[in-house]
Amino acid sequence: MIRTDYDSICKRLDTLIDGTRPVSAFSNAASFIYHELTDVSWVGFYFFDPASDKLILGPFQGKPACVEIGRGKGVCGKTLETGNTIVVSNVLLFPGHIACDADSRSEIVVPINVNGKTVCLLDIDSTSEGRFTESDKSGLEAVVSVLEKYSEKNYPFKF
Ligand code: SME
Repeated sequence: MIRTDYDSICKRLDTLIDGTRPVSAFSNAASFIYHELTDVSWVGFYFFDPASDKLILGPFQGKPACVEIGRGKGVCGKTLETGNTIVVSNVLLFPGHIACDADSRSEIVVPINVNGKTVCLLDIDSTSEGRFTESDKSGLEAVVSVLEKYSEKNYPFKF
């Protein structure tokens, strides 16, 4: 059983990104989360672009990924639609899942909300089925609350 110290991750992430610009903050956040978690193959962000009503690939760690995702498409587009975290224990069974990496088996997508609107998503993939438990879901939602606090101060994001 994988036990991750999410309290420690939240504190160190807050220190890492505080006072830095958005492109740097989200880049360092992707790298930090990727290296702190075990058994993950991709960690990154999709930003919501209101002009095109699409999700746009942001900073990440892992293999190159799909650059635009429409509302309601894949796990990310569904998360944008519902505004709630989605945990997929077997991506092969998720209708419409967008496979950026054929080896991906499980996924979690957590929305980053500012004033009740989703401005960005944290997306994490694993090549292991069932990688993300209820405790990962609550832990990663706590991680996202650090990113929401940052986003409230820095939205709309500028270079
Ligand atoms: N699997 C996602 C697409 C993004 S990649 O996982 C990086 C989806 O179905 O929305």
